[in-house]
Amino acid sequence: MQAQDDLLQSAKAEYNESGWFRLPSRFEEVGIKKLRESVESISRQKRPEVVHETDGKTVRALHGCHLFDETCARLVRLPMLVGLAEALIGEPVYVYQFKVNLKQPHEGAAWPWHQDFAFWKNEDGMTAPSAVNIALFLDDTHEANGPLQVLPGSHRLGLIESDSDEQRERSGDWRNHVASDLEYTVPQAEVDALTRKTPKQLAVGPAGTIYAFHPSIVHSSSDNRSADRRALLLITYNAVSNAPASSPRPEFLVSRDTSRVTPVEDDVL
Ligand code: SIN
Ligand code: MN
Repeated sequence: MQAQDDLLQSAKAEYNESGWFRLPSRFEEVGIKKLRESVESISRQKRPEVVHETDGKTVRALHGCHLFDETCARLVRLPMLVGLAEALIGEPVYVYQFKVNLKQPHEGAAWPWHQDFAFWKNEDGMTAPSAVNIALFLDDTHEANGPLQVLPGSHRLGLIESDSDEQRERSGDWRNHVASDLEYTVPQAEVDALTRKTPKQLAVGPAGTIYAFHPSIVHSSSDNRSADRRALLLITYNAVSNAPASSPRPEFLVSRDTSRVTPVEDDVL
């Protein structure tokens, strides 16, 4: 499939240069509908994988759904996603992390500027950023409902010293890795300096839009100031060769099954 190979090659070139890119095609509508149904049903369940905003009742995120929800389990095995991850990383991959970050209308809170690899290295012992985040929009995402925003090219800087390196005691509590008060953040002065060189870019688009972004890219998102929910599904694939030996964090944040993902036959959910 020459066209597919060409697409993956140009995706890889853009990913290496900018640390992120948007896929030209969108995820099919029926699949998005199924995933939304899973989100509704899981959100109603009382389980540790369901994380709330500081009010204790607004659902902020759902973690590790690929471990217990059939639709999410199939999603991570779709050939288009596994193929994309393996092309970008250049090695066989497994699912390291799965989450749906929900920003409820008017309630969903921001994510401060950070690099994911800071968490994975410091908390889980991941040695290299040989992983990739695949972001799938379950809702239309626009400037006002708290889209992901990135500093293009910042992944090439490696890990930037975090605010917590100097100012805070490490809590070791995974709740500080999923709340709006994140444990590892990039200092605002650093973000300002980077933004002067390369302006931030927003990940916006209709439901079904897919982006890939690098573990070291500096990113954040703002509060949801609108009446529209913003559900962002994130799958992190990691190279099998880069699996951490062990992590103190729960399995719904760091998958223990590090065997290569076996793709299903077709790209239908
Ligand atoms: C968000 O859901 O806006 C933040 C996602 C992330 O930090 O990976
Ligand atoms: Mn992140």
